[in-house]
Amino acid sequence: MSDLAALEQRASAELAACADEAALRAWNTRYFGNNGEMLAALKAIGGIPKEERKTYGQEANRIKEALTNAYEQKLAEVKERALSASLTSNPLDVTLPGRPVPRGRLHVATQVMRQITAVFADMGFQVYRSREVESDEMNFELLNMPPHHPARDMWDTFHTTIPGVILRTHTSPGQIHVMREQCPNPIRVILPGMCYRYEAITTRSEIQFQQVEGLVIGERVTMADLKGTITAFARRLFGQERHIRFRSSYFPFTEPSIEVDIDWPKDDPNADRLTKGTGWLEIMGAGMVHPVVLRNGGYDPAKFTGFAFGMGPQRITMLKHAIDDIRQFWGNDLRFLRQF
Ligand code: DAH
Repeated sequence: MSDLAALEQRASAELAACADEAALRAWNTRYFGNNGEMLAALKAIGGIPKEERKTYGQEANRIKEALTNAYEQKLAEVKERALSASLTSNPLDVTLPGRPVPRGRLHVATQVMRQITAVFADMGFQVYRSREVESDEMNFELLNMPPHHPARDMWDTFHTTIPGVILRTHTSPGQIHVMREQCPNPIRVILPGMCYRYEAITTRSEIQFQQVEGLVIGERVTMADLKGTITAFARRLFGQERHIRFRSSYFPFTEPSIEVDIDWPKDDPNADRLTKGTGWLEIMGAGMVHPVVLRNGGYDPAKFTGFAFGMGPQRITMLKHAIDDIRQFWGNDLRFLRQF
């Protein structure tokens, strides 16, 4: 019995001396762990002479209970104290604004492509995608450029090792794909996508660039529809104050053919270089679909007419944001890309 009293006294004194959680846990192991003293005292009950056993057992259990309660109370106190210490030493201001999560964004080429698509979508155009690796037949022949046609010189071409297989030099071959798929239904589509040309890289031209082709086919489609559509598009994208200009031109797949220019802001110091002193930058070629092309697509030119256009969204982006070098688009310089 006196052993129990001594145990209680020692354990209580040591418990009182514990200053932190680690010390408390060590105390707990010492008394209540597998080899703990308190546990040993409880196990000893069986060996106590019968007449003393009941009193010893009761006393041992009382001490166990008392020590456990004291331990838990002390543990809670210590934790509470540690928490308030950490709150005051390193105050947490939950009203501070959070740290911004770095966010990615769409490439400026993608942004403009989506704007263009949205404008045409409002005018009832559907988006049609067609392949970037093309046959010579689709890219040239069916667009009214037989082999050795001099107009082919307008497109310096990347050839593959397979004869007759090339990287498309423009999105125009998509016209043939759509016509053959849709004939004899009317068509109103745009065909966005990447094109490739074997050209010297300058501030105005790249070997890889996007185009947006447009194709409208139906009965009684006229040049007036073409001009109206393009004017509406340009005004939506650039605002009413920008001027557009139609110039007559030549493309083998349209007759008549035009080119569309847009005026470059006169106060831009780069205006002269970019517009070759004219104040105008070409944004697209266009025209009435040539009867040969209509026929190659399956449409009867006696019954159907259509217009087509092809524009370079990078050129358009340069106009919108006064960018003076087309090479910036695929240069992956974040200082450039972050501006949009
Ligand atoms: N495919 C021409 C080019 O890449 C652009 C073009 C001109 C497309 C006139 C057309 C068009 O659809 O009618 O230079």
